[in-house]
Amino acid sequence: MTKPSILSRRGLLLGASLLPLSSARAADAVPTPRQTEGPFYPTGFPADMDNDLVQVRGQQALAMGQVLHLEGRVIGLDGKPLAGTLVEIWQCDAQGIYDHPRQPGRDRRDAAFQGYGRLMADADGKYSFRTLKPVAYPGRTPHIHLKAATGDGRLLTSQFYIAGDPQNERDFVFRDAARDPRQRERIEMRLEPASGIEAGALATKMDIVIG
Ligand SMILES: [Fe+2]
Repeated sequence: MTKPSILSRRGLLLGASLLPLSSARAADAVPTPRQTEGPFYPTGFPADMDNDLVQVRGQQALAMGQVLHLEGRVIGLDGKPLAGTLVEIWQCDAQGIYDHPRQPGRDRRDAAFQGYGRLMADADGKYSFRTLKPVAYPGRTPHIHLKAATGDGRLLTSQFYIAGDPQNERDFVFRDAARDPRQRERIEMRLEPASGIEAGALATKMDIVIG
């Protein structure tokens, strides 16, 4: 009698200890919040739309501004890679000018900045871009726009921001997306020197979590 009861108690204890663990894991998997696409998604794609936005193919010049290496993984709520997800980013140049017909002063834009790039996440869900540290423009705190389209037809549209930028809290798009502190983690880029990657550049790691 004693043995089976000990066993079953142990079984119960094991079961009890597994439950909080798995629910804690689920709680960690907060999706990247959805945010507006904004008015500047390209109406036509540049001839060069690879994942290096700092240099346009066929041009010697590098874009003005500070280089930022943005990389991470595209994963689901279960933490598993979403291989083959198409990741797109777009942003304004170092002067705050988008390559878009609605952009006032578009002709003054930095032609050495690609402005838009895309790539397919690899088998581990990894993606990477060489782009610029985003700058502010009238009415918005610095941000990078992104879209991620999974192989099974899910689409996430969002934006990344610079952690700690004093303009963030005055930006209504940021404030709305960052109300939940766990969502805030998903959209705030912590910038560090890109040591060993590129002199004078910055780097950040941002996972894109798609629910
Ligand atoms: Fe924007």
